[in-house]
Amino acid sequence: MKNWMKCSIAAALAAAALISGGCGGQSGDASGKIKIGVVQIVQHGSLDEANRGFVDALKERGYGPDKVEIEQENAQGDQSNLKTIVSRFKAEKPKLICAIATPAAQAAANEIKDIPIVGTAITDYTSAKLVQNDERPGGNVTGVSDFAAMDAQMELAAKLIPQAKHVGLIYCSSEVNSEVQANQMKDYCKKHDLAVEERTVNNVNDIQQVAESLIGKVDYIYVPTDNTLASSIPTLMKITDANKIPVIVGADIMAKDGALAALSVDYYRLGKQTGELAADILDGKVKPETSPIQHQKDYTIVINKQDAEILGLTIPEEIAKKANMV
Ligand code: TRP
Repeated sequence: MKNWMKCSIAAALAAAALISGGCGGQSGDASGKIKIGVVQIVQHGSLDEANRGFVDALKERGYGPDKVEIEQENAQGDQSNLKTIVSRFKAEKPKLICAIATPAAQAAANEIKDIPIVGTAITDYTSAKLVQNDERPGGNVTGVSDFAAMDAQMELAAKLIPQAKHVGLIYCSSEVNSEVQANQMKDYCKKHDLAVEERTVNNVNDIQQVAESLIGKVDYIYVPTDNTLASSIPTLMKITDANKIPVIVGADIMAKDGALAALSVDYYRLGKQTGELAADILDGKVKPETSPIQHQKDYTIVINKQDAEILGLTIPEEIAKKANMV
């Protein structure tokens, strides 16, 4: 929030300048820089990487610190923080807003209709009601999705745990991004004769109990890119490792945090793609309402070697060759 405190001082100065006839204009500050607001739901690897990529791409496109003031805001996983941040953006009128992860984009889109909002690391824009449809968003929101094809994710799991017949699924029931992934995962399992043991959590405090309820019932557990579970992979792994249950996750960072494997987008590259889109909007080349949602089609496989050892699993040669072993 420090930046905004600086801003209120700047606002006071600008007000003083107004009296003497000066005015910084709508989305520039007193120094004439363009203002961009970034709102991120929570601090964790994937989202931090997307954020970094966004800033780097803007810089490469001529929107570096000499021209742009980026207001970085993190809601620390708290909905009421999100509201506060978004209200501030509404009042400050930055030229563009970057929203990282679904809850951040929903909060921004609900409040702000007249500033371009570019989303990143968002699973499904249409289900989250951020756009009318992916091909023609129709409003002030567009962006880049991080949804990795579910078939490819499940096929990776099938190669790592070929004998699996029962699969666990854990996610937070209030996250639409997780619900979309869960539904696709269940569809895949239905088609491939896999029984699903589905468990939802309301918050991080439920994770332990939910994980314990799957012991002895499943051959592996799948966790989608869920913002509630994101920072709790180590909590989950304590239980699953002790019971030798492999965990397959939706994002590379979650495998780096201890899960067995992920097939996911590269979040830094995703952020760069988002920065490019933002630069196109700032340049006046495209408009959010007619800019289709973008996807990343080539995925990275991440395998956690140490976890494979704990589980006593041998990684098939074919996967080990193309995977990023961490
Ligand atoms: N895709 C999630 C969303 O739409 C955000 C996300 C990206 C995420 N990577 C993640 C969540 C990794 C948890 C872990 O909100």
